[in-house]
Formats: sequence, structure tokens, C-alpha cells
Amino acid sequence: MKSNKLILLITLLLPVFYVQAQKTEQILIETQHTALILKAGENGRIYQSYLGERFARTADYQKLPQGQEAYITGGMEDQFQPAIRITHTDTNPSLELLYDHSEVNNPEGNVRETIIVLKDPKYPVTVKLHYQAYVQQDVIKSWTEIINGEKGKIILQDYASSMLHFNAASYWLTHFNGDWAAEMKMQETKLTSGIKEIDSKLGTRAAMYQSPLFLLSLNGQVNENNAEVIAGTLAWTGNFRFHFEIDPNNSLRVVSGINSYASAYQLAAGKTFTTPVFIFTYSAHGSGQASRNLHQWARNYSVMDGNGSRLVLLNNWETTNMHFDEEKLVSMFGDVNKIGADLFLLDDGWFGNKYPRSSDNAGLGDWQPTRTKLPHGIGNLITKAEAAGTKFGIWMEPEMVNPSSELYEKHQDWILKLPNRAENLYRNQLTLDLTNPEVKAFVLKTMDDLITKNPGLAFIKWDCNRLMTNTWSPYLKDKQSNLFVDYVHALYDIFRQLRQKHPDLPMMLCSGGGARIDYEAMKYFTEFWPSDNTDGLERVYMQWGYSMFYPSIAVAAHVTSWGKQSLKFRTEVAMMGKLGYDIDVSKMSADEVAFSKQAVGHYKRLSSTIWKGDLYRLISPYAENRAVLMYVDSTKSKAVVFNYNLNIREREVVGRVKLQGLAPEKQYQVKEINQMPGATAILPNNGATYSGELLMKIGLDLNSWHLKPLTSSVIEITDI
Ligand code: DGJ
Repeated sequence: MKSNKLILLITLLLPVFYVQAQKTEQILIETQHTALILKAGENGRIYQSYLGERFARTADYQKLPQGQEAYITGGMEDQFQPAIRITHTDTNPSLELLYDHSEVNNPEGNVRETIIVLKDPKYPVTVKLHYQAYVQQDVIKSWTEIINGEKGKIILQDYASSMLHFNAASYWLTHFNGDWAAEMKMQETKLTSGIKEIDSKLGTRAAMYQSPLFLLSLNGQVNENNAEVIAGTLAWTGNFRFHFEIDPNNSLRVVSGINSYASAYQLAAGKTFTTPVFIFTYSAHGSGQASRNLHQWARNYSVMDGNGSRLVLLNNWETTNMHFDEEKLVSMFGDVNKIGADLFLLDDGWFGNKYPRSSDNAGLGDWQPTRTKLPHGIGNLITKAEAAGTKFGIWMEPEMVNPSSELYEKHQDWILKLPNRAENLYRNQLTLDLTNPEVKAFVLKTMDDLITKNPGLAFIKWDCNRLMTNTWSPYLKDKQSNLFVDYVHALYDIFRQLRQKHPDLPMMLCSGGGARIDYEAMKYFTEFWPSDNTDGLERVYMQWGYSMFYPSIAVAAHVTSWGKQSLKFRTEVAMMGKLGYDIDVSKMSADEVAFSKQAVGHYKRLSSTIWKGDLYRLISPYAENRAVLMYVDSTKSKAVVFNYNLNIREREVVGRVKLQGLAPEKQYQVKEINQMPGATAILPNNGATYSGELLMKIGLDLNSWHLKPLTSSVIEITDI
């Protein structure tokens, strides 16, 4: 009895505020600069009155119109895309959601959560809308819980994480499409009446053709400093859908969530379904501010160790592919030191004995080192790497199996494939059925054993090279339409349990390049692999695109032999992200090795500004034949400018570049760094001192008469 009272008392003291079911009350979800205002209507439904810049006077919100219903249900009177559509146990395909009450958790903290509880008046189905406001970062997360209080299962036909409404004169959507080696192409389109959908049905490599990211600009095209922009992304490592629909009144609704394609979800009696999180930021000052909001938020809340440090690594994939042996690898350990890097990453091709992995058609699933290649195993490689003064990391692709493998021979029932149909191989491989707890345990144990048995292991690259087709789970039986969702939940379980056991191990998220990147997975990963395409020119565009949403500390960028640009250009492109190498150091000239070592040194000195500073994108490669961007640290005492001349024409003239984010009153020394031995800087008056005001109002002539295609410079700016 006593302990019950104690629990009651503790519960009452928790910072949770239960708001009485006051009809017509307003629910304010505010960050430093943004407000999302919801309102319970006379009819008991909940409406979105406003989303935009925060008002100085809260009383003014009372004058807002009611707006559109916040989380529209299917099967009732609405005529457009619903946020939620369910089929009840008795087959009734409608849902009505009436406001019951709302709660606020942690109202004084930086992360404030509002929960709005809605109930169907006729059926025991409850829907909770969650809004988590990150006050300082101006980011809002929203997601939904759907609670089945019925006696039997209900079917979730559509189950969005978020529905947002806009009323503007025009809407411009920027989305990010691609393919293998061609990720993150930015495309902007004006939305017209009707529907535009950005989605994925690919399962494991969900983001291969479209990334789960968008910028929505109101009343004009997006730009870096002036537009009214919403940047949105779904934290879901699987099929997603963003639905943009303009109705006859020119109102836009944006419905974001899991793609319900082939995924009518069976929710058993008494169970709760929690949707993934939709993350958005609203900026009245263009995409630049939106990115800075997201970067700051991500480093603090959604990238593993986002405010920590990163290793400069040397990967062997581009140099050896799968053709190496112990001797070759050991010879490469010395290369790590030569260029000043920290870690050697052994890529694909080290495992399989009955079916050795000497090409991509064998071995996946058999995670034992190939004896003919590595007779002394992984532990011995780690010891040798350490003796050479470097750390050691390893590549894995634990969700996959090749038909040429012992795993395949033993466990046909562990594999996703259709009965009565030919196997549909993709890169000669199939996906394991993670929905089966036995398979999930196998994957977790494979990873855990590798790490536990090799305590010196300092890095993991987790790859995933196939998407899902001809997908069917032997385990799920009559619940096949839960497959796409349950697979992702199982994957998260594996990530979570692995992280509980190995909380500090740096891990790279990779999917044949950047085909699987999102903010839920990034909670478990320290960086991601944006693309197998490391051509310096291509990477300028790709990394530009990624920078819209992801902080540079998470964006792995390697210097390789792809691309015909100079080593300096390729290095300086990689330096704007998380620098690494995947190049044959033994083939570099002495000058190239010296340059690389110097570049790594500069990078290490400047990396905290690059990783944690505010990003200002100054000249877009989509607008000019060059790209210029800069990072400024939080005290405005250090900045780094990256300047890339792209397809420059003969006698092309470009303007001065006005810097941003500096303190106008400070004096800064402006110095180009990072030249090849014997070369001179292209920045006129290199090393001169200017005020922040001058640098921002007049700007810098970054190239002078040296403007040439595929050249670059890095400029260090230091207050004095
Ligand atoms: C695809 C990755 O993107 C590459 O970096 C490399 O790890 C290969 N897989 C190995 O198969």
C-alpha cells in the first residue's frame, strides 16, 4: 500500500502536465523561432491553425483561423490523402478521431514533448500524436502511436508519422534522387494541383533512387538566405513516402511516413504501433539556416557521438578489391602512417572457406576468415596493425547471403524469397529474414562474436548491397504484409543490442554507397558512406546535397583514384566532409605523399571547425561553375573556406565571394593553406588581414587570374 502511494507521489512530481480536455483550447508547440499551433475545434476534432515563425505575443495566436484537421482519417468525409486509414476488426474501414486530452513533458527543458490523445467515439482505437520540440535547434520531431483496444486485429492501411498543412501562393519542392554511384542529385520542381509523391519500395536499400529528405519552399524557389523553407526527413531505414497534395483551394498537405505499399500492417488486439519519427525544421531565412538547425540538432541528438571525434582511415577496397593476402595487407599498414592517417579498414573479401569470397558471387553468410588468404586470422592482423602504429577496422555485410555459401546450404528457411518463383538475385545475393528471431539472433551473434573475440577492433563498416524484390518471409506466414516494417524493427533491435554491448566502437553505415541513410540508423553509426563514386567533381555536387541535412562529421569522404582531377582537388573535396583515403599509397609520388600528410595535418587541426562549426553555402555548383562553402566555429574566431572551380570556361569571370557568419567587428587573418610542394597560393594577398565586416560586405577574390577548371583552394580564417 505504502509503495503504491510512493509511486503515485513520484508520478505527480514528474514534469508531466496533463491538460484538461478543454474544447477549443490551443496547443502551442514552440521552439526558439518556430510555432506549430494546434487547436481543438467545437466538433471535438483537432486542427492545425499555424506553422511558421513564432509570434512575439502569444495572445495573437488566438486570432488565427482554425485551419485544417491535423491528422485526417480515411473513410470519413475528407476527399484527399488521409494521414491514417484503418480497417477495424468488424471490417469497418473508417476512423473518427476526437480530442481527449493533451500532455506536456519537460515543459521547461530544451526537449519539450506534447502528446495529443485522440479517441474514436465508437471503436476502442486511440491515436496519440507526439510532437517533440528542440527549442534551441528549432527542430520538431513528430510521430504517432496507434493503440488497438479492439478484441481482434485491426489493419493499418495508412499510418503516417506526420501531416502538415500549408497555405501559400506557390510551393517548390526540392528532392534528392539518384542511383548507385549517382546519389543525391538535387531537383527542384514547382508543385501543381494534384499529387506528387517521393517514395521508396526497395526495402533494404530504400534510399537508392530517392532519399527520405525534402526541402519545401513557400511562395518562391528555395535559396540559401531568404526563402521560407521547411526541411523534412523521415527517420526510417526502410520504405518511406512523402505525399504532397494541393487541393482546389491551393492548400498543400504533406503526409510523411512509412510507405504503406504492400504494407497493410496487421496490429493484434491490445498492441500499439509506433510510427517512425518525422523530423522537420522551419526556417524563414532559407535553406542555409534550415541546414544549420538540422546539423546542430543531429550532432546533439541523432548521430552517434555527434560531438565527438573521428579517425582518418585508409581503406583497401579501391586498391585491392578482394584480391589480397596477409602479406599485402601488412604492407599497407605502413601506408597509414605515411599519410598521417589513424586506421586501416579491411574491406570486403576476407571470409568464406568452402566458398571463399574472391568475387561477389560467393561467401556472404560464412563469416570465418579465408584460411588461404589470412591463415593467422583477424586477431593477428590487428596485432600487426598495432605494431605498425595503426588501428584496424573491418567490413561486414551481415544481413546477406550468397547462394554459394554454407549458410545457404544449411538454412534455406532463413532467406527472404518467394515460394514457387525463381530466386531473384541482386549482386548475386539474397537477404536474410530478420523477422525470424533465430536469424536475428544469428546476425547479432555474428557481429558480437567478431567484436568480442577481437577486442582491438577499432572500426566496423556495415554494408548492405541489395534491395528487396520477390520478397516473402517463411517465418511470417499469413502476416506477409508486415514484412517490410518488421524487418526494419528487427534491424533496429540488432543495432540497439549491439550498441548496448559495444557502445564506443565507431561504425560506418554503408549500402553499396549511400542507399540507406537516415536519422534513426545514424543513432547507432558515427558516419555514413555517401557513394561509391568518389570522383572529386561528382562529390562536390553530392556532398553539397548531403550537407542540406547532415553535418560533415557524419559524411565520409575519401580520396581515391576515381576522377581525373589533381590529388589536391580530390583531397580538398574530401576535406569538406569526414576525410579518409582509399588509394594505393605505394603508387603515389614522394610529393603526393608529402602533400597528403600535410593535408591530413591541416585537417586534424581544423576538423573541429569543419565538423562542429556552422555551415554557410556561399556559391552553389547548381548555380555557377564553381562551389564555395565555409564553416565558422561557435566563437566566430576560426573559419575554413572551401573553394572549388568546376567546369570553368576560357576567360570566364567570376565575382568576389561574400563570406558569412563572421563577427563584423573582428579582424581576421585570411590564409590559403594546403599547396603541393613547390606550388604557390592562388589567393591574392595571401595572409592579409581584414575585418569581418569587409569580408562579409565586400568579400574575397578567391581565384584572381588563376581561375582554371578543376582547381581548388582551402582558406583558413583566424581572428587576431
Ligand atoms: C559497396 C560499398 O559501397 C563499397 O565501399 C565496398 O565496401 C563494396 N560494397 C564491397 O563489396
